[in-house]
Formats: sequence, structure tokens, C-alpha cells
Amino acid sequence: MKEKILVTGGTGYIGSHTVVELQNAGYEVVIVDNLSNSNADVVDNIEQISGIRPAFEKLDCLDLEGLDAVFTKYQGIKAIIHFAASKAVGESVQKPLLYYRNNLGSLINLLELMPKHGVEGIVFSSSCTVYGQPDQLPVTEEAPIKKAESPYGNTKQINEEIIRDVVASGSPIHAILLRYFNPIGAHPSALLGELPNGVPQNLVPYLTQTAIGIREKLSVFGDDYNTPDGSCIRDFINVVDLAKAHVVAIDRMLEGKQEEKVEVFNIGTGRGVSVLELIHAFEKATGVKLNYQIVGRRAGDIEQVWANPERANKVLGWKAETGIEDTLRSAWNWQLKLRERGIQ
Ligand code: UD1
Repeated sequence: MKEKILVTGGTGYIGSHTVVELQNAGYEVVIVDNLSNSNADVVDNIEQISGIRPAFEKLDCLDLEGLDAVFTKYQGIKAIIHFAASKAVGESVQKPLLYYRNNLGSLINLLELMPKHGVEGIVFSSSCTVYGQPDQLPVTEEAPIKKAESPYGNTKQINEEIIRDVVASGSPIHAILLRYFNPIGAHPSALLGELPNGVPQNLVPYLTQTAIGIREKLSVFGDDYNTPDGSCIRDFINVVDLAKAHVVAIDRMLEGKQEEKVEVFNIGTGRGVSVLELIHAFEKATGVKLNYQIVGRRAGDIEQVWANPERANKVLGWKAETGIEDTLRSAWNWQLKLRERGIQ
């Protein structure tokens, strides 16, 4: 068994896939999650896939004493992967204080406890949202950080800065910031995926709910952008590929291979796919016809963004492997499984 890793938000969408990959790679995992956007059955499904049941503590990362007790209970935690955060862009505009409190407070608690418990490093879930609309595409890690469009986006930027400031102050920790592009899809077993929480705001959950008949129609937000087909372009990254990026980041950190105490990596495919292309890829992959209509632009949307993932390819030895059609088929299989389980 390799080192012990604390995964906050480990029953969530990306967290749960990452726990599976960590366990497959031999790491011992302790999950901390307040179940605000997931449920405890996810732990059973992780066990079903990987054959190992991760330790699980139901806890909010804002609870400093509770977190302290977790580090004491599971002696020898070597690194943290910090997923636990609120992530709905629209909600963050309505409830900024909730977002600042949750997303900043949780990270601050972890950073405070790390030296005390001998935790060597933290992998942080950041986002391509920090780039805003980049001046150059594909976007590299050197691109300037643009003013955030939402409190959610701002918490990602501030969290990156907090980590840099704490490391610069001499804290004996390392950090790897992973800037995710647009994670989509589900585990090929259809045992893990993104659990629905009200009306989806993101494209693929809305699309699969429309395809299965929960929603009447998918609205495509704008076809008058300056792109080949007029719809927005994103870099859609398979969630299992994304999960694997965390494992190689942890390997690098714990093997002492980091060249800088804080390293940043884009985690994307390097390929831009438009919203309309994605719809057609879904129809091709699944044979299901989608009811959609073009409507006006959505406020705050970026026109086009996709990653230059070369640094992650070269330095981490990580590359996105799964094609868009396989990924969309996995999202569809997950939606079918949700129906089987009576979840809408
Ligand atoms: C957003 C956030 C990103 C965050 C991510 C979380 C912004 C600018 N970006 O990404 O920081 O990490 O969510 O998953 O806030 N679309 C439709 N119809 C729909 C839904 C979406 O046409 O019903 C289009 C959008 O206009 C956009 C694309 O699909 O062009 C992707 O949208 P979405 O899945 O919401 O992700 P982002 O906005 O790219």
C-alpha cells in the first residue's frame, strides 16, 4: 500500500472518480465530505468498482476542530486533494458570501492544519475560468489571469493566491494547481457520475436529461459567436482522464520531483469542440435524436476556450485519452442508470 491521501469532496463528481483511480494506483484514501451535493451510497459504488472501501468521514471542511481530529485519527496522511467546494456559477452570483465562506474557509483550514500534521502537499481543483476569454488560443498556463466573471470564479483565483502566499511565507508544503477545462462523462461502469441537483446548469447533464425526456428541449445559448458554427467552443475533458491527472500529480509531489513549490497544469484535451458539434457527437454516439433549439446568448459566457495541455503531457506524463463519443456514451449510460435507480 502506498501513502495515505485525504480527499475532500471525495464523494462528489470528480472526487469519486479520483478516489477510484488513487486506489487502483495503490494509495490509501480517506474521504471527507459533508454530502451537501452527493450521498453516502457513492462510497459503496467506489468499493464495488475498486474492491476497496475508502475510509469516509462526514464532515464539513469549515469545521476546523473536526478536520484536526480526522488528521489525528488517520495518522500519517501525506497529501490532500481538495475538491470540496461550492461550484454553481449562477448560485454564486445570488449568494456570494456562501461561496466566499465555503470555498475560502475550507482551504484556509486545510493549509493551517497541514504543517501541524506533517502533510507534505496539496493538489487543488482550479479551473480554466481563471483565464476568462484568453487573448491567445490554445491557452497556456502563462496566460494572464482575467478579472473573474462570478464569485465562484473569483474563489478559484483567490484560492490559487492563498496557496502561493502561504508557500511564500515559508510553510513547509508543496502545491499543484490543476486547472480543469470542462469535465464531462461518467465512469464506464455507470456506477459513478454526476448526481443531479435540481435543474442542471451545465451542458452535458442538461443534454442527457433532455435526451431521456426529463427536460423538453435543450437550449443552445447563442449561434452568433465568432466561431466556425457560431456556437461557443470548449475543451471537454473525460472525467476518468481528469481523475488520472490527480494520481500523477500526487506521484510527482510525493516522489519529490516538483521543480517549483507551486506548480500549475492545464488539464484538458487540447481540442476545442463547439456546443453544436458536441450535440451531433452525442447523437452519433448514442443513436438518440436530441430536441434542441437555438436561443440567445447566456450572460457571462466565454466565447471560446481550449487548453494547451503540453506541460501536463510532458511534465506529468499525462494525456487525455478518451474520445468525445466514448465520453458522451458514458454520460448517456449514466443517465440511463439514474433512471433505473429512480433518480431524476
Ligand atoms: C462553467 C464555468 C466554469 C466551471 C464550470 C463547472 C463560467 C464562465 N464557467 O463552465 O468555471 O468550472 O461551469 O462545470 O462560468 N450551454 C448551452 N445550453 C445549456 C448549458 C450550456 O448551450 O443548457 C453552453 C454554454 O453557453 C457554454 C457551453 O454550453 O457555451 C458549456 O457550458 P457549461 O457546461 O455551463 O460550462 P461553462 O460555462 O463552460
